[in-house]
Amino acid sequence: MKILLLGSGGRESALAWKISQSPLTDALFIAPGNGGTDQYGTNVAIKPLDFEAVRKFTADNAIDMIVVGNEDPLVEGIYDYMKSQMPEVLVVGPSKAGAMLEGSKDFAKKFMTDMNIPTARYQSFTKETADEGCEFLGTLKAPYVLKADGLAAGKGVLIINDLEEARKSLREMLSGMFGGASATVVVEEYLSGIECSVFVLTDGNGGYRILPVAKDYKRIGEGDTGLNTGGMGAVSPVPFADAAFMEKVEERIIRPTIKGLLDAGITYRGFIFLGLINVESNPMVIEYNVRMGDPETEAVMLRVDSDLVELMKAAAEGNLGDLELRHSPMAAATVMMVSGGYPGSYPKGKAITGIENVTDSIVFHAGTARDAQGSLVTSGGRVLAASSLGKTLEEALAKSYASVGKINFDGAYFRRDIGRDVMA
Ligand code: AMP
Ligand code: GLY
Repeated sequence: MKILLLGSGGRESALAWKISQSPLTDALFIAPGNGGTDQYGTNVAIKPLDFEAVRKFTADNAIDMIVVGNEDPLVEGIYDYMKSQMPEVLVVGPSKAGAMLEGSKDFAKKFMTDMNIPTARYQSFTKETADEGCEFLGTLKAPYVLKADGLAAGKGVLIINDLEEARKSLREMLSGMFGGASATVVVEEYLSGIECSVFVLTDGNGGYRILPVAKDYKRIGEGDTGLNTGGMGAVSPVPFADAAFMEKVEERIIRPTIKGLLDAGITYRGFIFLGLINVESNPMVIEYNVRMGDPETEAVMLRVDSDLVELMKAAAEGNLGDLELRHSPMAAATVMMVSGGYPGSYPKGKAITGIENVTDSIVFHAGTARDAQGSLVTSGGRVLAASSLGKTLEEALAKSYASVGKINFDGAYFRRDIGRDVMA
């Protein structure tokens, strides 16, 4: 098959790495890719949101299957666009209606409420109902959780301790703090527990497979302190997400999610990401995403033993049949190297050295590029993801940290405590 993968981050590097290993893959293109994805295929200078350019490339190069890495094109409706233009091309991802699970938190909360899926108690408000929103906040206990309804580049969730401050922030959000994304705000109860990420591949006809479970580390600072980032590392498996916990996840969350999509007539042939929180051994949904996680994918792909292309093809065709998704019994750990200053402002164009000395990890590129001389330089906040397998999480982490120690760029930063909280 000829495959076009859309995206440019560490997640797409890991997907490209896995896709390139499949005997079914005849050619892989990554649009736009980054400074490392060309190890696995051909980078093409197309923006995933430029649907017409994606269509033209697909037609000109006889692409058989498009894998959509990030949420923006899905929320904008790339599935529907490609199906209307070239119905014979397989697209791994939900339709625009399905992508609402991530594109609208209000939609996602209503969906969960309808399907009786465990999630935090909530109400949604607009500018017209701001007073009621302030009243509702008064019925909740601190801290207060405010969520912009729409996509806000991962910044649309505020968690505030003081009631009056929360009321002020609610009004500010409704007045355009996140532009149109916060014209509606979900106010919800705060849940206390430890989070994990569960990924499901579904074929839109009731078939689904669960990928290895992972945990990511969102904050910039050790001990989960400081600002939120796109993710500083990940581990898989997650010790607390044992068989009993995963049974509850499947029974209470995955099956009703799949059924809810079917009942609503929503086309969804792709990955569902469940952001879960473990509240006293009971999984509850914090959020849905309609794609794989980043940096979870950089760990999870190392533990998928089956042919991912065969699985994605079957899902996109609407029939997973009896294909197996085998999980490796090994543990995987990813440590992210980021630019100094991230998630605030940071320099770009710093020379990266030492990757060639890494032997025990796979170094997935995220924010990297080639300069005019063809040398590898930084080009983003999250730069490289060192991912390793080990017999235990300890071993996998030790390998990733040893690899990070061999790589240099000016201002490089990484968290030294990835995985520590779950290993106890
Ligand atoms: P989101 O953008 O929905 O992933 O939210 C960002 C982060 O906010 C989540 O990963 C959680 O750590 C936290 N969060 C969101 N909703 C809640 C909640 N109801 N209770 C506690 N933490 C939450
Ligand atoms: N790691 C969280 C995300 O991909 O949204």
